[in-house]
Amino acid sequence: MTRKLFVTTALPYANGPLHIGHIMEYIQADIWVRFQRMLGNEVHFVCADDAHGAPIMLKAEAEGITPQALVARIAAERPQYLRGFHISFDHWYSTDSPENVALSQNVYTRLKKADLIYVKPVEQFYDPLKGMFLADRYIKGECPNCHAKDQYADACEVCSIVNSPAALIEPYSTLSGAKPVLKTSDHFFFRLSAPECVEFLSAWLETPGRLQPQVVNKAREWLTGKGDDALGDWDISRDEPYFGIPIPDAPGKYFYVWLDAPIGYLAALQNYFASGKARANGELRTFEAFLSAPDTEQIHFIGKDIIYFHTLFWPAMLKFAGAPYKIPNHVYVHGFLTVLGEKMSKSRGTGIDPLRYLDVGMNAEWLRYYIAAKLNSNVEDVDFNPGDFIARVNSDLIGKYVNIASRAANFITKYFGGELQYSGDQDMLVREARSLAALARENYEARELGKAMRDVMSIADRINQEFDARQPWILAKDPANSAELQDVCSRALHGFKLLTVLLAPVLPQVAERVAKELFGLDRPFQWSDADVLPTRVNPYHHLMTRVDPKQLDALFEVDKESANVNADKPQGAKTRSASGPTSGRDAPVTVGALLERSKFAQGAGANPTAPVPPAGADAASSTATISIDEFKKIDLRIARIVNAEHVEGADKLLKLTLDLGTETRTVFAGIKSVYDPATLKDRLTVVVANLAPRKMKFGVSQGMVLAASGATPGLFLLSPDAGATPGMKIS
Ligand code: 2FM
Ligand code: ZN
Repeated sequence: MTRKLFVTTALPYANGPLHIGHIMEYIQADIWVRFQRMLGNEVHFVCADDAHGAPIMLKAEAEGITPQALVARIAAERPQYLRGFHISFDHWYSTDSPENVALSQNVYTRLKKADLIYVKPVEQFYDPLKGMFLADRYIKGECPNCHAKDQYADACEVCSIVNSPAALIEPYSTLSGAKPVLKTSDHFFFRLSAPECVEFLSAWLETPGRLQPQVVNKAREWLTGKGDDALGDWDISRDEPYFGIPIPDAPGKYFYVWLDAPIGYLAALQNYFASGKARANGELRTFEAFLSAPDTEQIHFIGKDIIYFHTLFWPAMLKFAGAPYKIPNHVYVHGFLTVLGEKMSKSRGTGIDPLRYLDVGMNAEWLRYYIAAKLNSNVEDVDFNPGDFIARVNSDLIGKYVNIASRAANFITKYFGGELQYSGDQDMLVREARSLAALARENYEARELGKAMRDVMSIADRINQEFDARQPWILAKDPANSAELQDVCSRALHGFKLLTVLLAPVLPQVAERVAKELFGLDRPFQWSDADVLPTRVNPYHHLMTRVDPKQLDALFEVDKESANVNADKPQGAKTRSASGPTSGRDAPVTVGALLERSKFAQGAGANPTAPVPPAGADAASSTATISIDEFKKIDLRIARIVNAEHVEGADKLLKLTLDLGTETRTVFAGIKSVYDPATLKDRLTVVVANLAPRKMKFGVSQGMVLAASGATPGLFLLSPDAGATPGMKIS
């Protein structure tokens, strides 16, 4: 049966260019969507600019233009990214649109009728000069703890303490410099804590197969919190001046951007359907009929930072607004993209700009393949490792997959005029292809893209082995072996076609060329082409080049303004070079330097939350050696874990107190997923004692404990043999 799918990705804010994290999400969703299309399912894949909110209003004001002009300028930049990375949205729209105004006001009115909206006075900081209420990110002052000047309340850059704006000494508005004053104003609230909401959400999120287990756990925690952590109602209004959608019958009040943003998914779909472009079996789709159809599936791909909005507010809003609104069938959450195990940072030379990637001549399908190879259905970060990237593209994609076609097709063209002939049991070939395609289908469906890619490469290995074992280059020397030569090459090309179908969601451009140029099809591959034996091929034309490591050297950008500064700028103070993403390129960082740094100073090893690649997984780093003097620079010591505790708000970290014999240290270690703090107390482990202290969101980490990890799940803390005592040196 044909499925009816409405698929979205998170809407990017319209105040800046797309970053590589957006591109990763779009690639993940696009691969899934292309796979569904290949199965013949009806898919409507939309996105839009998230246009409203104070930051966009203020940015436009700073540039002396209207917010609408800013949003239009940003929107005009989107296609180059989407085309560049082969992202096949059916439609791109904006939340600043008449459809979104009507839909948001309609949803609100229905929620009000359902008695889920109320008004209550809220006291907040206000900038009397600017005439505007201030979110915390617009207030700075002196840290009451360490007295550093110009600190935001959320985390002092110097001592890492978390303050409240009211605690800051001599606070000032970053918008005008004025001293903020407390002022009261009426706010509108959505009654999320109402028993009917809680009951509905509990059932919704516990529905088997709807959400990933990690996401259910998180949402359940929020839903069932007690005391200070109890589920609160949601403040959905903002006072003017605000760039947003007016609340009906409430002059001067606007919907908070997070109310109208997800409704923008629906506005985009509505506008798409109204455009007349959306057809299924020649029939025009209409918005209300499509949404109300019981078999329509609504699916959102999002990042882990916005789970709260998508698993609590959004389904509750839709549910209680009623038909035709539809509660989401699935919210699929992914982790962040890191580079060498760390958050990307321009100042450290680990930023990846998507347009720069394309500008330096890197192939979008390399990245699509690499991301696919690293993604699974869990909420895990995806690490970009340059050495691993080169190995996977050059050894797997080119060395294993593309090479099959170039080797086999040349014989068929030269000796058989393009005709394929199979000796032996053709049914078996078909059956085998069918079962491999069925396996890949399951993996794609479940978003287990890494598994799908691994299977594809092991099929490629087998094809290459069979081809090599039968030595076609020797067979070609004697015309008596002609039938065997034709069979060897035909089987290889059948295998290549199967692989191309299985890779088509990931490599749409290559797959389209293979279908058209090599196999002479007048349409792109469908999934059902996987088990159809090809009967002829056209001459092979070069399909894909290898990555040149120099391209990776050119890829990593350094922010000149912040180079040599060791810390990232705080949220809200982020800058982009005014020259934009494609011009005024900054000095490149070499891949060698990045790898070096990652191993011995800042990277994968120093970040206990980062998985360490298995031995041999990273060709470039595994071949590098260090001298004994370099090794001696690392001060490894035995430490006793005297205390281990959870860190509030941290998903992965445990806070460890370590006894190093002569001193006590605090270390944050990314081992929460595998260790219960209670089991760690009093055990001995190994610590890197001379690592520069690292300022983290939750405090300063004064060292690093060592753990082993590999290709299979798990993280294993090191322990010394009996007899070792805290402070002993390891050499
Ligand atoms: O976090 C963000 O970037 C938001 N602009 C995502 C909005 S997703 C949806 F709700 F619109
Ligand atoms: Zn401080």
